[in-house]
Amino acid sequence: MPLLSLGSLKLKNPLMLASGTWGFGETLPQEVLKGAGALVSKGISLFPREGNPPPRLSETPCGLINSIGLENPGLSVFRERILPRLLSYGPPVVVNILGESEEEFLRLAEGLCGAGASGLEVNISCPNVKKGGIAFSQDPEGVFRLVKRIREVWKGFLAVKLSPVGPVSEVAQAAEEAGAEALTCANTYPALSVIREGKGPRFHLGGLSGPAIKPLTLRLVYELSRRVKLPLIACGGIVSGRDAWEYLLCGARAFQVGTATLLDPRAPLRILSELDALAKDG
Ligand SMILES: Cc1cc2nc3c(=O)[nH]c(=O)nc-3n(C[C@H](O)[C@H](O)[C@H](O)COP(=O)(O)O)c2cc1C
Repeated sequence: MPLLSLGSLKLKNPLMLASGTWGFGETLPQEVLKGAGALVSKGISLFPREGNPPPRLSETPCGLINSIGLENPGLSVFRERILPRLLSYGPPVVVNILGESEEEFLRLAEGLCGAGASGLEVNISCPNVKKGGIAFSQDPEGVFRLVKRIREVWKGFLAVKLSPVGPVSEVAQAAEEAGAEALTCANTYPALSVIREGKGPRFHLGGLSGPAIKPLTLRLVYELSRRVKLPLIACGGIVSGRDAWEYLLCGARAFQVGTATLLDPRAPLRILSELDALAKDG
């Protein structure tokens, strides 16, 4: 089968494992890790982050709300102890990076140069502390500057992971003009569930993922595909080959599977074979 191109990244199939939903592969069957088109790591920050206190996950009809708080071991542990194992599975590894300032993103990009990863996926859904905590994803000019500066130090594949809320088109165009090679569309949607517990109800605020968001993100992919030339990597609620096929029809070139893998570690392989069967049926 010919390789699929996303800018400078070459994939043997269009399925990528979405950031944060497969840990670092510890509990995933080897066939899944080896069979994916690419592995997108959990979000990595410059220094370790402990993440949020529980509850971190709550279920909603057809969806999952998470407030993990981007827990991760930080750049140096990732680079020395985790990345070599991820690289050993075979598919290209794309490192999802998160920062609270341009400088943090730049130091991450510099720190990952030469470590073996094929690409970076920039998570812009983080607050920019130097701009009073407004997320990068709400600020197209800020995204332009950020991506341009990362591009100066990182020569490999560079994707920007969009937030589905805010000035999405303007941010996508800014990322394109600044030198991104692909756009991941998109991250989770801000949401809330009310948890009934012993002492009374608790509000769980977090990001919504899973089948509930698929029609929303599908529309976003459809609209972005008409506004930007960059390849789009769809991400939102894909649980079947049919879901992936719809995203490809709406303009995506590749797709990521997230929550489905959390629920069933073998889901990515099933999705790929269902997609294959659909393609054969025409
Ligand atoms: C538990 C969990 C952790 C996540 N961690 C990250 C992360 O570290 N960085 C990131 O960019 N997205 C993260 N995401 C978002 C997913 O990568 C994906 O964009 C989102 O879940 C939508 O896709 P899905 O509906 O297939 O899950 C996380 C999602 C979940 C459910």
